[in-house]
Amino acid sequence: MQMLMKQVTEPATRKSEHPVAADTPYAPSRSYRRPVQEGGVVWLTGLSGAGKSTLAGAVASILTSHGMRSAVLDGDVLRCGLNRDLGFSAPDREENMRRTGEVAALFANEGLIAIVALISPLAALRAQVREIVGNRFREVYVKASVETCEARDPKGLYGKARRGELLDFTGVSAPYEPPLHADWIVDTETQTVGQCITQLANYVECQFVASWDTRERRVPSRGVHTTDLI
Ligand SMILES: Nc1ncnc2c1ncn2[C@@H]1O[C@H](COP(=O)(O)OP(=O)(O)O)[C@@H](O)[C@H]1O
Ligand SMILES: [Mg+2]
Repeated sequence: MQMLMKQVTEPATRKSEHPVAADTPYAPSRSYRRPVQEGGVVWLTGLSGAGKSTLAGAVASILTSHGMRSAVLDGDVLRCGLNRDLGFSAPDREENMRRTGEVAALFANEGLIAIVALISPLAALRAQVREIVGNRFREVYVKASVETCEARDPKGLYGKARRGELLDFTGVSAPYEPPLHADWIVDTETQTVGQCITQLANYVECQFVASWDTRERRVPSRGVHTTDLI
């Protein structure tokens, strides 16, 4: 560390060795383009098995690779922790939505894109979370019919619901109200997984990239860490 500081603050005498690192802690500027994002909430609603979790995870990875910060709030995961005291009764579903909406809004306030994957079957409750989040809320309908989701049945839940082992199961023994005015629709029945991921990732970027930072960046040169300069 001390050696590095010395190297940075004092002009080098032997310029032939590592000339860039000796003269400046930075390598020459390099052009680059970085998205400047706004925080927001992308709320994926759809039946169990429609593809919400699949799309949420994949889109978050794409956003990361494009330099954007996001966080997935998956209903199943939340029910193991934050919402583990809640069941599937009407008041519990409402509380499940409310808490998730509040957390998503906090993330959005911190500049993150919160991608929520939650069945969210009732239009009135989706309207409530839109209210909590405000104008940075985007409702995305992950569209697939009960028949398609039941054929997929990735977690065997439709089978259990049909056999009566699961009560109040959305699409089988509890209602699902498809959004009438979704901000975006991803049809997972007629498109491949890859097409759906690309389409949704493009949509999210269009919605939440506020501008592009094209300023030149000075890249720390080899062997000198920015923390060594502080
Ligand atoms: N076009 C598609 N988009 C998303 N998932 C799809 C698509 N086609 C088939 N699938 C499959 O459907 C299943 C959806 O499961 P999951 O993402 O857990 O749904 P959800 O989170 O909505 O309950 C996965 O096994 C996924 O591979
Ligand atoms: Mg899921």
